[in-house]
Amino acid sequence: MSDHTVLFVCLGNICRSPTAEGVFRHQLREAGLTEKFVIDSAGTGEWHVGSPPDPRAQAAALIRGFDISSLRARQISGSDFDRFDHIIAMDHSNYRDLVSLAGVERQHKVRLLLEFAAHIDLEEVPDPYYGGDNGFDRVIDLIETASAGLLHSILGTRPESEANTPPG
Ligand code: 4NP
Repeated sequence: MSDHTVLFVCLGNICRSPTAEGVFRHQLREAGLTEKFVIDSAGTGEWHVGSPPDPRAQAAALIRGFDISSLRARQISGSDFDRFDHIIAMDHSNYRDLVSLAGVERQHKVRLLLEFAAHIDLEEVPDPYYGGDNGFDRVIDLIETASAGLLHSILGTRPESEANTPPG
């Protein structure tokens, strides 16, 4: 059985959350931790169910060395709140939707991804859907930093970038 379960969630499940799934899977593979995790992504909306990630998201991912072309969008369901221990929202709107779907007993599982990016002064991963191609690059930068922080948080380890920082 896997030790940890993580679900990344955005609105459409074609831009940010499949990118986060791809980045996190890539980081797990590099750390030799793939077997210890079950990860997935989903959207709060249903418009894109069954679709592959946006071609711009696929292209930006490939340039960074990971392939998300085989992912298919799905909408979050009630059972996800039982199956996953960490439900990671990309923005405040996703967060609010997830907390209300989770109900009181499971809302502690819902967190914002950028909470785990200690040195980034932003709370939301911007939605790149209506912007240009460079929005996707920026999204990957943010997600890479935050995913590394998320991984350390789940494992209870300290990010290397903070290893020499004095406490406080
Ligand atoms: P995502 O981006 O939530 O990061 O997948 C979006 C994808 C589609 C739409 C909005 C955001 N849309 O309105 O169709």
